[in-house]
Amino acid sequence: MEAFDAVDVIRAKRDGHALRAEQIHWFLDAYMRGVVADEQAAALAMAIYLNGMAGVELSEWTQAMIASGERMDLSGLGRPAVDKHSTGGVGDNITLPLVPLVAACGAAVPQISGRGLGHTGGTLDKMEAIPGWRAELSAAHIRRQLGNVGAVICGASPTLAPADRRLYALRDTTATVESLPLIASSIMSKKIAGGTDALVLDVKVGSGAFMKDLPAAEALAATMVELGAEAGLPTTAVLTDMATPLGYAVGNGLEVAEAIDVLAGGGPSDVVELTLALAREMLTAVGHSHSDPAAALADGSAMDVWRAMIRAQGGDPTAPLPQAREHDTLHAPRDGVVRRLDAYPVGLAAWRAGAGRARQGDDVQAEAGVQLHCRQGESVRAGQPLATIYSQTPQRLPRALATLADAFDIGEAVPHKVGPLLVERYPRSRHPSTARGGSTWPATAVRGTLRTRPTTFNEGGTRDGEHAIHG
Ligand code: URA
Repeated sequence: MEAFDAVDVIRAKRDGHALRAEQIHWFLDAYMRGVVADEQAAALAMAIYLNGMAGVELSEWTQAMIASGERMDLSGLGRPAVDKHSTGGVGDNITLPLVPLVAACGAAVPQISGRGLGHTGGTLDKMEAIPGWRAELSAAHIRRQLGNVGAVICGASPTLAPADRRLYALRDTTATVESLPLIASSIMSKKIAGGTDALVLDVKVGSGAFMKDLPAAEALAATMVELGAEAGLPTTAVLTDMATPLGYAVGNGLEVAEAIDVLAGGGPSDVVELTLALAREMLTAVGHSHSDPAAALADGSAMDVWRAMIRAQGGDPTAPLPQAREHDTLHAPRDGVVRRLDAYPVGLAAWRAGAGRARQGDDVQAEAGVQLHCRQGESVRAGQPLATIYSQTPQRLPRALATLADAFDIGEAVPHKVGPLLVERYPRSRHPSTARGGSTWPATAVRGTLRTRPTTFNEGGTRDGEHAIHG
């Protein structure tokens, strides 16, 4: 005899009532046992999408997702573990240099990552461009590698928050992905179950991100920070700009090459800047604020950890990355200034070239993507190359190139205002610079190519109390 009837639970949420803790725990448990059917879980996801969840409900929902599987035990590693999660963007390859960099500074980094869907890339797809590299690791392998190397990038094991695995696939096919409580609980359940000692979230905001505007990104960041605090996991979130792509490379192998440039002491200034800012956040979160990540990039120790991490997962860090058979280049139609370089069409063009997948399980091309030759705000001359698009499939190039052209607005007027790369931080009260009485982000070393985005910190606030969260 079941404690509840699935239809009653769905009806309650459909009619705008808050679900009780027992209903939530029963529903997700019954879903995993096969008592609740996929169509019933999809109906509840849609009711949550439409009506949101109160804070207490969301907290119970997240706990029930965690309880659907195992929790990793990372105790006894000899160094604190800190994880980072990005909500995804265009050219966002920060995880690649960041994980070995933070490990080189003394923390252990169990980076559980995902695959790309739609126009945003996924870390595992990028890493798989490296010949031989494996994403699927056992829990024993992860622990061993964290002890030996300090850094792991891998997929979530099937036993970690398995309810999320099933629900995410269902949401993907029922137009219920873009729900704030469902996104927050999906991300946080996996991160909490992963056993890390601290977590830093990079919440992207702008056309190339899930969250297109600041209020939505702020609400997501504040919600995830609260969920972390409730679970006893110290969590901070930074809001970072995704209106224009990060760096110059968009696509799997292209982004790996750019990440290696960063580890070698070069790379685009915005990628370096964000890597260092997130490294400082992560190190501060585990009491290592005395470590200097800029020094670990400069002296090659981060690169040493990268190579060891790739080898430990079967990869060859010296092997050449795959090169695309076909390419085409977009040229500037006139003299002028790149007034806008919009992240979303660039991501879409890379996806159309074969870098991304339309459905979970589709193959991606390691070689496909977009290499930008200029950034927003730069002056260009008629005929100058703006970007090159790469693919293994020549038929894909014309449509991808047309999409890429939509990303560029070239004119005579002044550029659209370029916002700061680092927008806000949650919670404000725990900001390391605030603790020192400052109101800006810690200064970061900027090097490499043209720096197009100033680093300033806008005042932001935590959200107190309980609030209903809507999709
Ligand atoms: N990433 C996740 O892990 N879950 C979501 O729901 C959205 C993005």
